[in-house]
Amino acid sequence: AETPVAKTPPMGWNSWNYFAEKVTEADVRAAADAMVASGMRDAGYVYVNIDDGWQGERDAKGVIHPNARFPDMKALADYVHAKGLKLGIYSSPGPKTCAGYAGSLGHEKQDAQTYAEWGVDYLKYDLCSYRDVMKEQAPNDLEAQMRMMEASYQTMRDALNTTHRPIVYSLCQYGMDAVWEWAADPHVGGNLWRTTGDISADWDRIYALASQQAGLAAYSRPGHWNDPDMLEVGNGQLTAAENRSHFSWWAMLAAPLLAGNDLAHMSPEVRDILTHRDVIAIDQDALGKQATRAYAEGEVEVWTRPLQGGALAVAVFNVGGTRYAGTHPFHLDLAKLGLHGAQQGEDLWTGKAVTLHDRQPIALHSHDVWMVRIPVPHA
Ligand code: DGJ
Repeated sequence: AETPVAKTPPMGWNSWNYFAEKVTEADVRAAADAMVASGMRDAGYVYVNIDDGWQGERDAKGVIHPNARFPDMKALADYVHAKGLKLGIYSSPGPKTCAGYAGSLGHEKQDAQTYAEWGVDYLKYDLCSYRDVMKEQAPNDLEAQMRMMEASYQTMRDALNTTHRPIVYSLCQYGMDAVWEWAADPHVGGNLWRTTGDISADWDRIYALASQQAGLAAYSRPGHWNDPDMLEVGNGQLTAAENRSHFSWWAMLAAPLLAGNDLAHMSPEVRDILTHRDVIAIDQDALGKQATRAYAEGEVEVWTRPLQGGALAVAVFNVGGTRYAGTHPFHLDLAKLGLHGAQQGEDLWTGKAVTLHDRQPIALHSHDVWMVRIPVPHA
């Protein structure tokens, strides 16, 4: 049986988006330190996740060892745990990971056991070279390949179960074979599953991934989440507006909030976005229903998310280059959200009380977001 983890979308950090395969134990310790010092832990972040690049060689018995950049995995887990945080790790069902390190093929039970002995709390399992195995063993039979893929995720699920350690299980196969339709089935027991290819730190990609989540709301629920990939907040050349919108959108989507920046060297502006409690509370809402697109008008998208107790979150994203301001605001059509009459809400980025009326004017700069919580919506 699967373990009772990820009742709300996992929150934490992952090494990949900033450090890629050059990550070291020192980087991971620094991330854990910064998670505490920045206030992120107190804001709900828990998992410190090592992505691709930690693996060394297998010994004569087949036991995997970390490479020289990770001298002592057990000590690292202890260090992370002593801070009240949890440790995540990464592998692949194939012979090699995407970056060419050792994968788990044929060693699944052994690897799960090793992770459990180290004190690992989270596994991201990345398809990578298993695609080649599928193609080799079932050439020209896509259906058989998909069944093999699903079986490979089941094999690691079974291996994790035999450890009796609660380990969050993160499927990473880029949304193939409508993964959201089967990842949460008990035999696979995925706690989250990537719905798309990789994110990158640019607005067009972030927007593309966000819009690909439209239509997936029915598949996510407590314990089982759609994963539009890890955060790029604070990476690349993203503007403050883009960082805010990215974070807001992931919160609306009940997405895992896995920061992907260099936590030890982030700006106060980036820290304030990552620790913005009112927005995090939307992500972590106990009802666990992800947002749907209510409507789009020009370059503006309006998404709504039902919350525990009948409340509603509304987020308005200006995804294009138009600047809505002054005498040319965007007009939010409440009727299109099923709302009628004045609505009392809270602006989730300013914390201010707002009263919304039909065709509510909203100032919204390019790539920015406006987000409110309406505790008692009037239909
Ligand atoms: C592909 C995944 O989608 C990324 O998130 C990252 O884990 C890399 N592989 C690592 O090689």
